[in-house]
Amino acid sequence: MSSEPIALAVIGGTGLYRLAGLEDAEAVLHATPYGDPSGAARVGRFAGRRVAFLARHGEGHALPPHRVNYRANLWLLQELGVGRVVAVNSVGGITDAYGPRAIGVPDQLIDYTQGRVSSFSDMPGAEVRHVDFGEPYSRGLRQALLEAARAAGAEPVDGGVYGCTEGPRLETRAEIARMRRDGCDLVGMTGMPEAVLARELGLDYACLALVANWAAGCGPAPEVEITMADVLANMEAAIAPLPAVLERLLAA
Ligand code: HPA
Repeated sequence: MSSEPIALAVIGGTGLYRLAGLEDAEAVLHATPYGDPSGAARVGRFAGRRVAFLARHGEGHALPPHRVNYRANLWLLQELGVGRVVAVNSVGGITDAYGPRAIGVPDQLIDYTQGRVSSFSDMPGAEVRHVDFGEPYSRGLRQALLEAARAAGAEPVDGGVYGCTEGPRLETRAEIARMRRDGCDLVGMTGMPEAVLARELGLDYACLALVANWAAGCGPAPEVEITMADVLANMEAAIAPLPAVLERLLAA
């Protein structure tokens, strides 16, 4: 394997199972002290740099959000020497700026998940750490991602609160109304514990949120059912600028 450091890792969410433009990719897959990752990390060349890609749900989307082994995924990336992670997450939009097909870079999150293992500190004998998480995403990487998205002509939304639910079901309208009162702008199922585990490992981590649908009860037609067909069509549109965004990010 090349000794050139990996410039960036991308964790792909729903609708993103391969990174277009990743060339000469080598699959790296092995068990970690925390179990098996979602699949192989693909390490190859993208825009002239060494880049790793990992499909969060597995390449065939076999793993629902609550079954993803977030610890093993991040551990594998860290073992590869990754220092920066861009997490791509499909989300539902709650507030006006985050309508379907919008892309954004949230700056805060609220964790509504239940029972996920959310620390590397829970093994017997492990050091107990209380990491600072006041600012859950890395400021520098967030800014770089925003600038890259603007340079790629993508008009990203700057900031917003990501509410992470347990899933895999979508939320009730009352749950989303409560999340809106809590200050959430977007809702997804995979933002946590990934972000805090990255922080525990000292990785730079930022989220690129792609809006697949209006969250339950939101938008101009709040009673309309959320269909998978709409979600997938919106995701396809929202993902389109991604290669250009990553290219700009790597060139910066
Ligand atoms: N809720 C939670 N997660 C999601 C949604 C949603 O409406 N859309 C895409 N991921």
